[in-house]
Amino acid sequence: MKALLWASLVTSTFGATHNDEQYSPPFYPSPWAKGEGGWADAHQKALDFVSQLTLAEKVNLTTGNGWMQHHCVGETGSVPRLGFDGICFQDGPLGIRFAHYVSSFPAGINVAATWDRKLAYTRGQAMGKEFSDKGADVQLGPVSGPIGRSPEGGRNWEGFSPDPVLTGVFTAETVRGMQDAGVITSLKHFIGNEQEHFRIVREANGYGFNISESASTQIDDKTMHELYLWPFADAVRAGVGSIMCSYQQINNSYGCANSYTMNSLLKNELDFQGFVVTDWGAHGTGVASAFAGLDVSMPGDTDLGSGFSYWGGNLTIAVLNGTVPEWRLDDMAVRLMSAYYKVGRDKLRVPVNFNSWTKHTYGAEHAMVGPQHGYDIVNQHVDVHRGQSALIRKIGAESTVLLKNNGVLPLSGTEKLTAIIGEDAGPNAWGANGCEDRSCDNGTLATGWGSGTADYPYLITPADAIQRTILDKGDGLVDLVTHNWAYDKIQQLASQASVALVFVNADAGEGFLAVDGNIGDRNNLTLWKNGEEVIRQTASVCNNTVVVMHTVGPVLINSWYDHENIKAILWAGLPGQESGNAIADILYGQVNPGAKSPFTWGKDRESYGAPLLYKQNNGNEAPQIDFTEGVFIDYRAFDKTNTTPIYEFGHGLSYTTFSYSDLQIQKLDAAPYKPTTGYTSPASSPSNSSKTWSEYLFPESIRKVPLYIYPYLNSTDPKEASADRHYGLPTDQYIPAGATNSSAQPLHPAGGAPGGNAGLWEEVYKVTATITNTGTRPGDEVVQVYLSLGGPDDPQIVLRGFDKIALETGQTKTFSAVLTRRDISNWDPVTQDWVVSEYPKTVFVGSSSRKLHLNAALP
Ligand code: BGC
Repeated sequence: MKALLWASLVTSTFGATHNDEQYSPPFYPSPWAKGEGGWADAHQKALDFVSQLTLAEKVNLTTGNGWMQHHCVGETGSVPRLGFDGICFQDGPLGIRFAHYVSSFPAGINVAATWDRKLAYTRGQAMGKEFSDKGADVQLGPVSGPIGRSPEGGRNWEGFSPDPVLTGVFTAETVRGMQDAGVITSLKHFIGNEQEHFRIVREANGYGFNISESASTQIDDKTMHELYLWPFADAVRAGVGSIMCSYQQINNSYGCANSYTMNSLLKNELDFQGFVVTDWGAHGTGVASAFAGLDVSMPGDTDLGSGFSYWGGNLTIAVLNGTVPEWRLDDMAVRLMSAYYKVGRDKLRVPVNFNSWTKHTYGAEHAMVGPQHGYDIVNQHVDVHRGQSALIRKIGAESTVLLKNNGVLPLSGTEKLTAIIGEDAGPNAWGANGCEDRSCDNGTLATGWGSGTADYPYLITPADAIQRTILDKGDGLVDLVTHNWAYDKIQQLASQASVALVFVNADAGEGFLAVDGNIGDRNNLTLWKNGEEVIRQTASVCNNTVVVMHTVGPVLINSWYDHENIKAILWAGLPGQESGNAIADILYGQVNPGAKSPFTWGKDRESYGAPLLYKQNNGNEAPQIDFTEGVFIDYRAFDKTNTTPIYEFGHGLSYTTFSYSDLQIQKLDAAPYKPTTGYTSPASSPSNSSKTWSEYLFPESIRKVPLYIYPYLNSTDPKEASADRHYGLPTDQYIPAGATNSSAQPLHPAGGAPGGNAGLWEEVYKVTATITNTGTRPGDEVVQVYLSLGGPDDPQIVLRGFDKIALETGQTKTFSAVLTRRDISNWDPVTQDWVVSEYPKTVFVGSSSRKLHLNAALP
């Protein structure tokens, strides 16, 4: 049965029904970079560079030199002969981790809430500049996986939104911004990495589970294309330099050894020209991962700090003995160097001037093994954060969603007595950076926890900013209670107040750290630290209560949102270092809110579907996480089950009002779609290295650092050099069929250019509508285009376009958006291509996914 199923998947298509999805069909050989779609120059420079390298030097670029061996969270080997330092990889998606004098930007989820392409680009560029100036070559971000399948997913906030179009647009803009600033973007985690539980065996077992393999995410082909792969396609089209493969398995094949996801989806279909890097420690095989499409191993060792590597010297051996053809190794190095040249790193590079493992000026050169192996200046304290506060504040304010407003907002600042209630309004008593990777929920929450965070250079709390605003505006009284269980004090203050501002939060983060029993993923969707009770206590005595939520995603607000004394509700997400200023800007009307919720606010957990897996469900083998909901996550799930949310996806109020009229849909003159045909050129090597084993023995001129990963051999006897008990096994027992084939390969019908077939990006319809500001203040409106694809298996509507329009009082503007061919297509598992179905399609234009003011049939 197993063999049959496998065979049918290999010969026909990736499984279309859910029971077929437990296998990931093999795809070989690994597609070689071709230097197309804007990569030609960079590719040529990379070829020129790699052609000068010896075998050991090439291997050195593909493998990190080990955990905590250098400044960065990961660093490839260098090429000293050519004066080329190793490539520095550093977290993360919202700023530089493990460094000071850096900025802490608003999280990805806030960027999504702005619905503002330009802000996303500008943030990317501002972050990229900081990375570049600190000497980091690769920024490990942004995140489009998780996309946010389950609302509890611990790292959803690092990414953008559970909608693939919104995530795709902001991923691409962020990539462009960062790379225009001269750093390589490493988009992560590829793919299906939707929860923290069971992502890593050791991590899970450390929490008391007993599993022998990481979880497997089961995704069918249609869902893969229409949901999870979508934003990655946008990023590849935007020229992303690197993509990080994930810890968990996809259809029971590990993310960093999966030939279907890396070779077929990414490098063949999407024609990705950059390099795939492992998540840290996600490398689990040697030769197999090289054939499956992996290009760079990070941080280079098997287990962090083990001193052993699947690659390094073992990859040198595999090429020397002919197991891995040299063209595959060359392709790895060329892909890495292409990304390097593409972003202009060669012109901007400065030596790394920070150290991930200490903030002191002097320290161990190799922190893993201590100062006895080298002690020097490791930290130059270069200040790169200056000049970013205005941008960070602006994104913070423009990502604050006004969920409810019964006329109380904006405040004037001259209120007689303002009460500020809740721990989330104040500081962390341990300091803003007082907890490892921000893994505690003390004081105001402005970022989640884990590798996706950066040190705050300062953190403006809501209490600071509100008090300052009130003092600036008038002579009102202001007091605060930040103890969430001090009900008497809360009531005393709130009962006297003209307005009570209640601050509450909910946190989440990465699985290697647990906070309050939450192993990265949230255990539930309730507020943290007694938040509901703080709201109730306040609202019971103050009829002018305003609630502000700093949360990592949706929380359950059903028990209080419609309380008559709660006059306004705001979601401020995770705004970063300028948190307080940003919320004050909104509360006091300095900025008119224009943000829209990038996710749905449901009445209960069940209405979201897509349960997170908290318990082992496969004995001690790989937990199986079946994405049986298909593309129906977030608003698509609510629509499917006809469940009314409290606040729908795309909802957000303003201090002014807008009207919508005159929808027009124009069919554009697009050429018919042509599936890509033809062949690649054969694989080639820019150089043919010497295969004399003795040339790769550990050079006497090099001082050997313990546990450091080198590309060299300690013996010319391969078995001894590899320390592999199985060395010498006949290669047909472990080299997958076709893996070494260097002949020209057929192109994918949906491929042929980075991001996919150029015909998919052709504009096929233009949608216009008239939007008028009918209120009394200037304001921004995010106009949203939804499409009903019409098929019985399609969601009721899917977001397909949007734009943020600034309107003066009384002003009218024309909104316009285009639909590409991909926008109106479905993925067809049989032809392995996008097709426009026969079903009638309808376009909706509105101010949210449920306020669809205008509609018309797609002509
Ligand atoms: C995380 C990545 C991160 C890497 C390096 C991993 O545990 O999953 O997102 O970039 O560590 O810190």
